[in-house]
Amino acid sequence: MSGLKQKVFYFIKNKRPYVVLKTATSLDGKIATFTGNSKWISSEASRRFAHSLRNDLDGILVGINTIIKDDPSLNVRDILNPSQPNRIIVDSKLRIPLDSKLLKKDIGSKTYIYTSKSYDREVYKKLCKVENLEIVVTNSDKQVDLREMLKDLGSKNISSILLEGGGNLNFSMLSEGLVNYGYFFLAPKIIGGRDALTSVEGQGFKNLEDSISLKNIKIDRFDEDLCIRGEICLPE
Ligand SMILES: NC(=O)c1ccc[n+]([C@@H]2O[C@H](COP(=O)([O-])OP(=O)(O)OC[C@H]3O[C@@H](n4cnc5c(N)ncnc54)[C@H](OP(=O)(O)O)[C@@H]3O)[C@@H](O)[C@H]2O)c1
Repeated sequence: MSGLKQKVFYFIKNKRPYVVLKTATSLDGKIATFTGNSKWISSEASRRFAHSLRNDLDGILVGINTIIKDDPSLNVRDILNPSQPNRIIVDSKLRIPLDSKLLKKDIGSKTYIYTSKSYDREVYKKLCKVENLEIVVTNSDKQVDLREMLKDLGSKNISSILLEGGGNLNFSMLSEGLVNYGYFFLAPKIIGGRDALTSVEGQGFKNLEDSISLKNIKIDRFDEDLCIRGEICLPE
């Protein structure tokens, strides 16, 4: 089955988006230095390819810490006639800075913020005035209910998503079995540092047999980077 057919089939069957994880790390698994400096770990060719992935999928999903630390635009660049994906953020308390680029820069697609019942009421009122933005309150007192979020995105006809981290959201999505496919870019750099973030953080798995593996692996080169990709498999 082709990649596109597989995504459509999954969406129709499960009524939730097919999720593709993309992450870029150094050889020692870091996504940033211990000071939070992350631009740029991967090569220009890897980044161009990442934009083509964004262009091919309906939405980009990131955690609120990534918005606070990097202030990304989450758009498609350097592609002729790009199709701009919906931007999706998980933010349980509405910590999003009101001057974030993605709130100010209308790229013609919609932005969704998924939050929990513990959201900041004052920020909510201010966000309601932002055009092309929808805030969805999930039925949780703590962190965003990711399963409920994906179901809701499915009901909005968003059939595929690129998950771009950071490490905490990646772990939650992976450990809840919500990721279908992964692209792991490896740049020939060594960053080190016990406080430098890795591509999958969270609590981690206790036993090796609980860990997640990839199947039907393919390996590509993008300039000096390697990209290992494959289907995400949960332990039996
Ligand atoms: N190299 C790369 O490929 C790459 C890609 C992306 C990001 N990054 C880097 O990653 C760093 C940020 O990563 P991070 O791990 O600190 O944060 P993150 O994954 O961006 O955001 C995590 C936050 O999202 C919120 N959240 C809400 N519901 C959640 C749920 N169910 N599960 C998990 N999180 C949930 C939580 O904050 P609340 O409880 O307040 O909602 C949580 O602390 C930045 O330094 C950025 O530069 C690197």
